[in-house]
Amino acid sequence: MALSGALLCAGPLAAEIVGDRDAGRKISGQCRTCHGADGYAAIPIAPHIGGEPESYLRDQLTAFRDGTREHEMMTIVAANLSDQQIADLAAWYGGHEARAELTADPAGAPELCVACHGADGMHLADDVPNLAGETNIYIDTQLKAFRSGKRTHEVMSGIAAELTDAEIRAYADWYAAVKLYIETVE
Ligand code: HEC
Ligand code: HEC
Repeated sequence: MALSGALLCAGPLAAEIVGDRDAGRKISGQCRTCHGADGYAAIPIAPHIGGEPESYLRDQLTAFRDGTREHEMMTIVAANLSDQQIADLAAWYGGHEARAELTADPAGAPELCVACHGADGMHLADDVPNLAGETNIYIDTQLKAFRSGKRTHEVMSGIAAELTDAEIRAYADWYAAVKLYIETVE
């Protein structure tokens, strides 16, 4: 199992790089047309990334760069980013403040999801992304990608495998209906 040993070693080493927010802000000029300067997405197929956990942003950018997560736009964007640039971008976008406003009755929140994503779609653990205010198209696409195996994750793949199209649509609509505000932190 030499391979898994090598992969385990790569994690902690990469995590030691400290992100520089100022440097991240400069590189974020490449991200703005789709994700906005503060991480509030400007196109419906792109997710809001402002105020997401820094470690989650880092993991996803690394996954796009290394090919373990694929997308026609992000694969190209991430292809030439160094570990340092990824850490800088994660520090910039992750450092903004995201706030959710749930107007529906929280009792109607998807029971299967609230332990990690909250009723309002704000993450309850550091490796979990916010879902609040993401478009239903984006959430739907990701759940179907986990279900089909196009995107994989030890927890989400198992959860999505059991979901019907109707459930996916209902959960996507629930979280998409939450209002998300992102406050820029310079
Ligand atoms: C041309 C549009 C475009 C540009 C430019 C772009 N992105 Fe993206 N980004 C997307 C789309 C679309 C997705 C959704 C991918 C998917 O469906 O898997 C995405 C997904 C992401 C994700 C995953 C978020 C999550 O919730 O899982 C991160 C992180 C991200 N982008 C960061 C960046 C950064 C940082 C830059 C600049 C270096 C950037 N993107 C530039 C369109 C773009
Ligand atoms: C035990 C914790 C847990 C539960 C329960 C859970 N999730 Fe997740 N979810 C995660 C984690 C961790 C990730 C990040 C996956 C990754 O790193 O690729 C995630 C990612 C996602 C994403 C991708 C978001 C993005 O920005 O790309 C969606 C959509 C999602 N979950 C929806 C759901 C829905 C809907 C439910 C309920 C049916 C649910 N999750 C239940 C932990 C959980």
